[in-house]
Amino acid sequence: MSAVVLIGTQWGDEGKGKITDFLAKRADCVVRYQGGSNAGHTVEVQDEKFMLHLVPSGILYPQTICVVGNGVALDMGNLIKELDGLQQRGVDTSNLRISLRAPLVMPYHKKIDELEDRSNGIGTTKRGIGPTYADKINRTGFRISDLVMEPEFFETRFKAQVEQKNRLITEIYGEEGFDYRILMDELLSQVEILKPYLADTSYLVYNQIKEGKKVLFEGAQGTLLDIDHGTYPYVTSSHPISGGACVGAGIGPTCINKVLGIAKAYTTRVGEGPFPTELNDEMGEKLRQRGCEFGTTTGRPRRCGWLDAVILRYATRVNGLTDLAVTKLDVLDEFPVLKICVGYRYEGRVLTEFPENIGVLAKCEPQYIEMPGWQKDLSDVTEWSDLPVEARNYIAKIEELSGVKQSIVAVGPRRSQTIVSGQLFD
Ligand code: GDP
Ligand code: IMO
Ligand code: MG
Repeated sequence: MSAVVLIGTQWGDEGKGKITDFLAKRADCVVRYQGGSNAGHTVEVQDEKFMLHLVPSGILYPQTICVVGNGVALDMGNLIKELDGLQQRGVDTSNLRISLRAPLVMPYHKKIDELEDRSNGIGTTKRGIGPTYADKINRTGFRISDLVMEPEFFETRFKAQVEQKNRLITEIYGEEGFDYRILMDELLSQVEILKPYLADTSYLVYNQIKEGKKVLFEGAQGTLLDIDHGTYPYVTSSHPISGGACVGAGIGPTCINKVLGIAKAYTTRVGEGPFPTELNDEMGEKLRQRGCEFGTTTGRPRRCGWLDAVILRYATRVNGLTDLAVTKLDVLDEFPVLKICVGYRYEGRVLTEFPENIGVLAKCEPQYIEMPGWQKDLSDVTEWSDLPVEARNYIAKIEELSGVKQSIVAVGPRRSQTIVSGQLFD
């Protein structure tokens, strides 16, 4: 059995896209299981840069089956645009499969996301993610299969939903509502384009695993953005943790045999919410510039700070990590001294476990250890033994503090800038 779940250990943007693409060469199937167009996964191949949002990052390998699972918030318009863009660049997308159970992101979800975020102040991506999942849980949402298999039933329910959403948009927010007929026509033409890709993906993925194929589950966002285990309410509305793969792909936990956590060599966050190791100084700005830390989806500057091992230890626990990939090590190349947070000082005590409450987290003062930097260019290093001793010590410290061994170290955005020391697929 060879199924690996790949997840972000921090607040997203850890380099999941790059590592998924790297592993996809050896994978038979890559599965997205949660999130939606809020995700922005970058893959660089030679001089080409691909920004993926809904399409799994295995798409550049034509033989790899790419699955958009039932847990993904599906914006059909965005997906069609993304597929068009890839096809125009010569990418073969015929191996994409979309779950018939995927919940649809409607134009009113995006509008409501934008309107509600003005007062909630979460700093969402405005891609309609929260309102789509809220409707799913409230049982007032729509699945893509409803549109294909029961269009009349769909239309009746949809008309009522548009009326209800219009009341919210016009009466509470004083903005213009939607014409249900226009939306309905748009949905029908979009689903016609996506029909060839629709499948029972739970069955497909299960059979892949049963046949001994290599399956990689590509998480979006990160552990601290998980709706239950993240920094609530400053989170996304899905389960980016490894457990989300079972629910969002329709497979059992016994199917999974490895969990790979992606950890950036420092920490970033987009949007609001507490961030203990954040650097609001020249050092933070240097990390942002050297790491090109600007959002892939919204273009917002990412907040930057030192590596936080309290978070990594927490991610090890809630995801059951078996392996670690440390990315963007090269971004730290120039710094003479590197800091790692190993605990939080809170009301005179030192906390070593990640706090349950964000009010507590907001008051936590990071306790750092210092490590010497390597002050050498790592971008051409391809072997672990060629890394400077200071860089190897930095990684070894991460392993010690997180309790997980590294299998991959990334020293640049390209495929070739990847050092592999562990076997992910048996
Ligand atoms: P994701 O959301 O986790 O897939 O990450 P993003 O793609 O949003 O952000 C990661 C950024 O870092 C992208 O621009 C990647 O091309 C880039 N990247 C990934 N790994 C490395 C690395 O090891 N070094 C450097 N310098 N850039 C990297
Ligand atoms: P990838 O997959 C970083 C953040 C938003 C906001 C919060 C809620 O590229 O790592 P949402 O639109 O999901 O309701 O916004 O979550 N967020 C991300 N931050 N990377 C992401 O995805 C993110 N997706 C959502 O900035 O704070
Ligand atoms: Mg991203």
